[in-house]
Amino acid sequence: MSVGQGFGIDIGGSGIKGAPVDLETGQLAADRLRIDTPQPATPKAIARVAKQILDHFSWRASVGCTFPAVVRRGVTMTAANVDDRWIELDADALLEGITARPVHVLNDADAAGLAEMRYGAGRGVSGVVIMLTLGTGIGSAIFGDGRLLPNTEFGHLEIRGKAAERRASDRVRKDKGLSWDKWAARLEEYLHTMEDLLWPDLFIIGGGVSKHHHAFLPLIRTRTQIVPAALRNEAGIVGAALEASRIKAV
Ligand code: BGC
Repeated sequence: MSVGQGFGIDIGGSGIKGAPVDLETGQLAADRLRIDTPQPATPKAIARVAKQILDHFSWRASVGCTFPAVVRRGVTMTAANVDDRWIELDADALLEGITARPVHVLNDADAAGLAEMRYGAGRGVSGVVIMLTLGTGIGSAIFGDGRLLPNTEFGHLEIRGKAAERRASDRVRKDKGLSWDKWAARLEEYLHTMEDLLWPDLFIIGGGVSKHHHAFLPLIRTRTQIVPAALRNEAGIVGAALEASRIKAV
């Protein structure tokens, strides 16, 4: 039986990307559309871009939308790397108002993790799986026997007196011009702390930098098995579409 299509939008600090998703295979059903994130990235400006993307694909049904912050029942609670106007905002309601479609917003790393668990590197893996997205910040998604514990914020775990994402995100690597060796050492220290606290069975490393996994994963030693994400940059879109289909379309 076909489970049909869903639609996912991935809101990030530099771009907003969306596409219809084949929920059976986890593949995009059409080329994604990417639009630069408006600056300032106010809720209304972002919602208008989301509408533009949905109109482009003539998508009328429910939509999943990622956001790089804690999201509880559709309300964005934090704004570590985004405009402060998102704090304690009913993002579901705002986006539904502007796009005129049912919208479900969820944390970006949680969405990426859901996609990897269903279609990618975490498929069929039981026990504790930690997905980390390395980008502007560090996002975390933790699964116990395939079930997500939402809104974990382990990118903010303190390492040497600083939030981990201020030491080991991909943005820090680029901004400081760190070699793969130097950055891998920072990442390894972070992963050691995570494994000492959470004892995972598997780490999945995602985010844009995961396409360069050959350059840095071989430099990292952990007692936990560590693999690159399979869906790469599309995981957010796919996970958002999956979540929306579960919550509102059924
Ligand atoms: C935010 C998280 C988000 C991560 C990746 C962090 O700064 O606090 O909610 O998942 O960045 O975008």
